[in-house]
Amino acid sequence: MGSSKASCTVSLFQLFIVVCLVFQCFARVHADLSATLIVNASDASGKPIPETLFGIFFEEINHAGAGGIWAELVSNRGFEAGGPNTPSNIDPWSIIGSGSLINVETDRSSCFDRNKVALRLEVLCDSKGDNICPADGVGVYNPGFWGMNIEQGKKYKVVFYVRSTESLNLTVSLTGSNGVGNLASFVITGSALDFSNWTKVETLLVAKETNHNSRLQLTTTTKGVIWLDQVSAMPLDTYKGHGFRSDLVGMLADLKPKFIRFPGGCFVEGEWLRNAFRWQATVGPWEERPGHFGDVWMYWTDDGLGYFEFLQLAEDLDALPIWVFNNGVSHNDQVDTSAVLPFVQEALDGIEFARGDPTSKWGSLRADMGHPEPFDLRYVAVGNEDCGKKNYRGNYLEFFKAIRNAYPDIKIISNCDGSSRSLDHPADMYDYHVYTNANDMFSRANAFDRTSRDGPKAFVSEYAVTGKDAGTGSLLAALAEAGFLIGLEKNSDAVEMVSYAPLFVNANDRRWNPDSIVFNSFQLYGTPSYWVQQFFSESSGATLLGSSLQATSSNSIVASAITFQSSVDKKNYIRIKVVNFGTNAVNLKISIAGLEPNSLQLSGSQTVLTSANVMDENSFSQPKKVVPNQSLLKNVGKDMNVTVPPRSFTSFDLLKESSNLKMTGHESSSRSSI
Ligand code: AHR
Repeated sequence: MGSSKASCTVSLFQLFIVVCLVFQCFARVHADLSATLIVNASDASGKPIPETLFGIFFEEINHAGAGGIWAELVSNRGFEAGGPNTPSNIDPWSIIGSGSLINVETDRSSCFDRNKVALRLEVLCDSKGDNICPADGVGVYNPGFWGMNIEQGKKYKVVFYVRSTESLNLTVSLTGSNGVGNLASFVITGSALDFSNWTKVETLLVAKETNHNSRLQLTTTTKGVIWLDQVSAMPLDTYKGHGFRSDLVGMLADLKPKFIRFPGGCFVEGEWLRNAFRWQATVGPWEERPGHFGDVWMYWTDDGLGYFEFLQLAEDLDALPIWVFNNGVSHNDQVDTSAVLPFVQEALDGIEFARGDPTSKWGSLRADMGHPEPFDLRYVAVGNEDCGKKNYRGNYLEFFKAIRNAYPDIKIISNCDGSSRSLDHPADMYDYHVYTNANDMFSRANAFDRTSRDGPKAFVSEYAVTGKDAGTGSLLAALAEAGFLIGLEKNSDAVEMVSYAPLFVNANDRRWNPDSIVFNSFQLYGTPSYWVQQFFSESSGATLLGSSLQATSSNSIVASAITFQSSVDKKNYIRIKVVNFGTNAVNLKISIAGLEPNSLQLSGSQTVLTSANVMDENSFSQPKKVVPNQSLLKNVGKDMNVTVPPRSFTSFDLLKESSNLKMTGHESSSRSSI
């Protein structure tokens, strides 16, 4: 009995021990891990980070431009959307009035030679007689790009071209989406003689109310035939007055991009060469631009946002333009190297347009468009993702020779990895694109550790986590990208430039997922990937400090340290960035060597991007669910202990020397910029 009791006691005890061990083990899974980050902040150890490291890549994809940053409200303003080889398509214009009242078709009678299609409205009803028009008239309306955003008190410039066989009485109005409500309107009248030839009409409408889903109507109650062409409605209030949506470009400005690559991407290549972006068709007066069908992302663009406007946007953002041009290669057809010279000349002409003397052939067109000073074009990229294509290397050499000869200072970017310095493929930089899952992206923090430092530098012009890890813009994707970017920052002697892709998506036409900024006619938000980029907005031109992670029990954290002068308060900081990609918190000891005593202020700030669930996303209803959160960091010193939350990206900003930290009052705040 006794022994049996004893053995029972032992086994209960053993059970207790086992339970304890299991519990302990379980507890350890969720216990904090520890690590030490040693930073060398001595002046001698720092390495300069390129002035241009972090920038943006704008592609006309997802209606990023047409129906996006370009503020034009009318979609298909010239009725050309069918393209040159297909019957014209007036979509999304619609007819107001039944077939017995109005007959609408296109013809080729426009006064614009490069875009001959006009809209012919044969009005069969009248204000009197047998066939009376409805009181609101008959005509056409344009709903814009999924509704026009009209805001009370704002001014909208409406321009169109009109011709008429009879006296004209045309009402132009901004209404609700169903034609009801009058947000603003004006009536244009005149005799048949006044409008017998094409006449430009221009007026300013002031909105009486706000409606995010408005439409533009042109209606009449007078019998006769009217032609319309190049109908435009633009808000007057645009970014620096240059035609861009201020809210969307404002988000770009917050990233402090040092360059902007444009206009693609596949958009530059086209499925077929006939549909590729060709700069000459996108410059000059907007009314005369033919527009084109982008057959990769499958929508029409009027090319109001053309080559000139891209250069202007770069200037307005204080970012260097990086122009990507077609090299005679599309997704499905390509020009033989022996016949590529017209494309080479087109590229040379494009460079002359950007920076030639205002008296030169193409420089004078730029001057006529209002920019006599040259644009600061220093980089061009020959094609996009074309390295594997049969004619690319041959074509590339023709471009390289011609551009190097005419513009020796221009940096030329190849689609092929030229880091091996192969003689037949000279390049100043080479394009590197990566779209992958979260784990793989995070592991690429080391991708450039062993890259040759002798050859051309890498331009990581497109990167993003895609697939199920990304959702439509998850925290998980953003954290993996943050790890990758930390690796690029630390390897910025091999990587010259980096930009996320794609930049924008109009939520009504999601052609590629995920994206950095999501918008519709009036709303917008940044995905967590957008916010990650803000952590690096002070990195370009900063100094990289030597750093190493030691004694870490986790391989799920990466870190970097920089020192920089803030573009906001001009004070000097050390910024330590840490990505914790794992599920455990990490107790991190930070040891900063190489600093004079008392050279850090006692308090700094910490900014954390994290969320309850790693798949959390932002949305129109919760645009700030996953955004950086800043708080005061106390007890700053050369040796300090911090806790890095699981699944997070944190930056610690330490103010150097006698600078005063401007963080009084609120101890914690959600950030709209870092
Ligand atoms: O960023 C979306 C697309 O991905 C780009 O057009 C292309 O370059 C890449 O394949």
